[in-house]
Amino acid sequence: MSLILGIESSCDETAVALVDTDRVIHAERIASQVDEHAPYGGVVPEIAARAHAEKLTPLLEDVMAEAGASLNDCDAIAATAGPGLIGGVMVGLVSAKALAMASDTPLLAINHLEGHALSPRLADASLKFPYMLLLVSGGHCQILLVEGVGQYRRLATTIDDALGEAFDKSAKVLGLGYPGGPALEKLALDGEPTAVALPRPLKGSKEPHFSFAGLKSAVSRAHQSGDHADADLAASFQQAAVECLLDRLRMALAQHSAPALVVAGGVAANKAIRSALEGLAAEHSMRFVAPPLKLCTDNAAMIAWAGCERLALGRFDSLDFKARPRWPLDPDAETVRGAGVKA
Ligand code: KG4
Ligand code: ZN
Repeated sequence: MSLILGIESSCDETAVALVDTDRVIHAERIASQVDEHAPYGGVVPEIAARAHAEKLTPLLEDVMAEAGASLNDCDAIAATAGPGLIGGVMVGLVSAKALAMASDTPLLAINHLEGHALSPRLADASLKFPYMLLLVSGGHCQILLVEGVGQYRRLATTIDDALGEAFDKSAKVLGLGYPGGPALEKLALDGEPTAVALPRPLKGSKEPHFSFAGLKSAVSRAHQSGDHADADLAASFQQAAVECLLDRLRMALAQHSAPALVVAGGVAANKAIRSALEGLAAEHSMRFVAPPLKLCTDNAAMIAWAGCERLALGRFDSLDFKARPRWPLDPDAETVRGAGVKA
């Protein structure tokens, strides 16, 4: 058994976790920066970087104290090295390098998306490669065929906004504050999913790519018209999002097969989306796997776990590894307009 320290700082959560290769999370801490960014309605990169720098050391101390561990007990230090807001990524990565150097342990520079992509295997030891992954977060919306650690075939991406971004922007239109995804889901419970006619962008198109910018704009127009209750708008938006996901996944599954359908990323916390995906998996005789909610949104356990997976394969990184603002999981995938990558 090996023990890995994981650090996550690519967006607006500062997180630290100690995870072992037997899938035990010894301790974890997350400090959200929601309060710092809320007045601006979105993440402000400079504020994020400063907040990561302030919060990281106390979180590290808390995690070590709770686990009763010291740096010398760690077999490697894993940190998100991209993609994300570069200032924040650098804070986490430079700290990991310092810890690795001080304790003479290897550094594992983790792709944040790989953290999300492998997180279902932390929660479920029986999940084997390959699997079809819907990765839906604030910055990304992709369908990936996960063939192994470091082996990702991107089948689809968004040509404009990520789904989490569309949730957040639509929530902002409805005055729900930031981050809006969970608040919009809650409001949708009181609304009628068929009340407002909203578009299903790219529905039926052969390439299984996504587009959500038009949907978000339609919500904004419908809201301005004053003809609809906010709850109906929220429910109708969520319904349109679900239908887009199902249509695009059906297209991907018509072209590629896998024994399991897996969802990961912050938007995977959405219960309407989870249950729709569960139905789709059953339709295709696939297993459905969704990690517990706390592993869906940004966290450090998934970074430590991706480190465990890489450690098992001996894939260490050098201390001069550079932070990467952009870092596709599938370097061979064609560039698509917009590409759905924030920051
Ligand atoms: O993976 P994540 O924590 O950060 C990124 O890497 O982007 O995802 C955050 C995104 C935000 O856009 C947030 O609104 C969305 O996930 N989200 C949700 C829900 N919970 C979080 N969207 C819809 N329904 C939810 N319950
Ligand atoms: Zn994320």
